Amino acid sequence: MPYPLIPTPCSPLARMTLEILNQILTSPAMRDLLAESVAYEGDSLRLQAFLRRQAVSPAVSQALAELAELRRRGRAKFSRADRMFFTKQALEQATCEAVATHRARRFEGLRTVADLCCGIGGDSIALARYADVLAVDRDMALLKMARENASVCDAAGRIYPACADVTRFLARAEAYFIDPSRRVGGRRVQGLEEMSPPLSFAGDLLARCPRVAVKLSPAADYEPVPWDGEVEIVSEEGEAKEAVLWLADFKSCRRRATLLPSGASLTDEPVGSPPVTEPGGFLYEPDAAVLRARLTDVLAARLGASPMDKRIPYLTANDLRETPFADAYRIEGIEKLDIKTIRRKLRKSGIGRIAIKKRGVDISPPEFAKSLALEGPGEVVLVVTRLRGRPYVLFCSPVSRI
Ligand SMILES: C[S@@+](CC[C@H](N)C(=O)[O-])C[C@H]1O[C@@H](n2cnc3c(N)ncnc32)[C@H](O)[C@@H]1O
Repeated sequence: MPYPLIPTPCSPLARMTLEILNQILTSPAMRDLLAESVAYEGDSLRLQAFLRRQAVSPAVSQALAELAELRRRGRAKFSRADRMFFTKQALEQATCEAVATHRARRFEGLRTVADLCCGIGGDSIALARYADVLAVDRDMALLKMARENASVCDAAGRIYPACADVTRFLARAEAYFIDPSRRVGGRRVQGLEEMSPPLSFAGDLLARCPRVAVKLSPAADYEPVPWDGEVEIVSEEGEAKEAVLWLADFKSCRRRATLLPSGASLTDEPVGSPPVTEPGGFLYEPDAAVLRARLTDVLAARLGASPMDKRIPYLTANDLRETPFADAYRIEGIEKLDIKTIRRKLRKSGIGRIAIKKRGVDISPPEFAKSLALEGPGEVVLVVTRLRGRPYVLFCSPVSRI
């Protein structure tokens, strides 16, 4: 695929200028120095002393120290982070490997995908398992990092980088994936039209191609999106990581919650809202993806469970059913939210260790725990919430997620 490399101005980078990056990429001695810097494992004083002994400028030394630290932090997102290239902001914005791998599967069967706004290549690398990837970003230094990272991850043969403004460069492909920047002009933006490129750019692409996917913040308000599509919320280990709009031919339902690492997926179904009930023997706390995808009613129908307050998404039932979509707790007792009564009850049972969960009640868990002043070997989970509008505390013990 002979794609052009169209140079456009680079955004200012923290320490890693394009010039320094070029020096590192082209000099085996500098690469060795970088590998040695990573081996200092975040011991910044010893690393700085080491770098001072090398024949490099202060600017290069700073860039190497920063990259070594980013490689260390990058391990939380990438299995080969120790050899990859990042800037601080690009690492923060990059999709982590597990999420990118999950998302990329939907592109299987296509020959070409354009990854518009590829950054350091987190998504391009995952997409390259399934298709040839045209990776476009307007920041030349990030694009070079993406190319290098692709090579570290054995994906370089299927990634074709192009440096351009995606709104001006007509990238031809069978599908488009867009991961817009939510940092514009040095500040975080919330609005979907404030992103770069704005969400409406996906509409321009839809006019040309029936397969467009857009990554959004998991907190984004996706209701005003003007196109018919699917919203998938992805969580990893219970934390909501991203929302993806799957537009036109990509749509397979209206709303989906996907949990990683299991890959379990819950989709919308026509179920009614369950009635509010009294607490039963068990309490379910839905996964963050289920909550953000507004699928609590679907989960309640599957579990034969109901809410205990019409505004709060904790669910309760008398029988325990297996589910990957919620944490389950056995309800051992219930008290009104009265600190003296709760303290007395916990002390009597020898409870010294508590975990506090709260929804719908304005307390600070650390202050609440401090005011209980407990000692003892026993453990309990306190769920501070509302039952039919009134504040209560439920004494619970966890049942592991199945
Ligand atoms: C959220 S990051 C992409 C992260 C990437 N998906 C990854 O996993 O590494 C957004 C990127 O969009 C790029 N960008 C923003 N507006 C752009 C535009 N109009 N044209 C090209 N690139 C753009 C930024 O340079 C930044 O690298």
